[in-house]
Amino acid sequence: MPCPLESTILITGGAGFIGSNYLWHLNKHHPNAKLVNLDSLTYCGNLANLEGLKNNYTFIKGNICDSQLVNKIFEDHQPNIIVNFAAESHVDRSILDPQLFLKTNIIGTQVLLDAAKKHMRDGLFLQVSTDEVYGSLGPEGCFTEESALKPNSPYSASKTSADLIAYAYYKTYGLPVIITRCSNNYGPYQFPEKLIPLMINNILQLKKLPVYGDGKNVRDWLYVEDHCKAITQVIEKGTPGQIYNIGGHNEMQNIAIVKLLIDKISQLLQEESYAKLANPDKINYDLIDFVKDRPGHDKRYAIDPTKIENEIGWTPETTFEQGIVKTIKWYLDNLKWSQNIINGEYKNYYQNMYGK
Ligand code: NAD
Ligand code: DAU
Repeated sequence: MPCPLESTILITGGAGFIGSNYLWHLNKHHPNAKLVNLDSLTYCGNLANLEGLKNNYTFIKGNICDSQLVNKIFEDHQPNIIVNFAAESHVDRSILDPQLFLKTNIIGTQVLLDAAKKHMRDGLFLQVSTDEVYGSLGPEGCFTEESALKPNSPYSASKTSADLIAYAYYKTYGLPVIITRCSNNYGPYQFPEKLIPLMINNILQLKKLPVYGDGKNVRDWLYVEDHCKAITQVIEKGTPGQIYNIGGHNEMQNIAIVKLLIDKISQLLQEESYAKLANPDKINYDLIDFVKDRPGHDKRYAIDPTKIENEIGWTPETTFEQGIVKTIKWYLDNLKWSQNIINGEYKNYYQNMYGK
């Protein structure tokens, strides 16, 4: 049942990292789609990510747990595609405040599913999930869609619960639900609490680079635009009731990423256009600071994307070498975007939470 993207699409969490990239992606590739963005603008929701977005776009500030509001949005806008990005997304925060994660990620998803069940006729509910639902891998092997669900953090447990509820709505009520499980994304507009933007900003400010544990944990990195393309192709060609893993064939240890960022930023600062941003002589591996490990830190994630490649025809297009340079340049070109976050309200919040 292919779902045309030239229709009304409800995006939740569209002011966050992946959601805003997805709105830009739709705006560029599907300009006739009517886009409705429901976002409560938590600390990481940022309307600056969407400045200049035009064409059939409506922003609604509100919480996905607010059933009255969500039902009204379905009545007013009658979306036939829902892409649920809205979530509390940071593992470290979930360790400090699990309940908020359960509310947003589980109850919020159930509220959206319920409204879709009530109001949506044909269409699709796409639940954006994560490879973290599968838990941690040893040195060998990859997660497939058949891998057991073994989440380890409050964040991943809440995302796993949401997946199970979404699947239950498919089985019990016949709601056309698809679940996608993606690996670590990187790219523009990622909130600077996550590894790559945090390190870029700290390097530019010559601050310590906090690497958890021995730095040998492995993540499978995917450029966010490739993730956006995958979501669009799943909407167009995916089968309701199915799960699709999305990954970049790109496993890297955290310490290798941090060293690469130091090397690339030092190189870029030699270019005239970036020369004034920082002194490259002071940017070296001495900035690396091995700190206390994250509790329950998953050792390794790696996605086997064979199913989406074979059944949908999607494959990642951006190599890590290309994607990381584009990403660093984006942060160098948009220093104000990060500074507004780091020096704004977030500063106290961050320091209170992590003491760093
Ligand atoms: P993010 O934290 O950058 O953005 C989340 C957005 O959701 C923010 O705009 C926030 O304001 C909004 N939001 C939070 N709670 C809300 C609520 N109760 N009601 C309405 N809006 C709310 O997250 P992200 O990194 O863009 O991740 C988006 C989705 O993709 C999440 O579901 C996450 O679990 C999933 N995911 C992320 C990655 C990754 O690497 N970032 C990888 C796989 C899956
Ligand atoms: O795998 C997909 C998941 O990727 C998504 O579901 C999550 O929403 C997203 O936040 C991300 O989770 P991670 O925990 O993998 O991402 P994070 O950027 O927080 O950390 C990446 C790795 O880097 C992880 O092994 C922890 C480590 N790390 C992170 C930070 C913030 C550090 O060593 N130091 C740090 O300061």
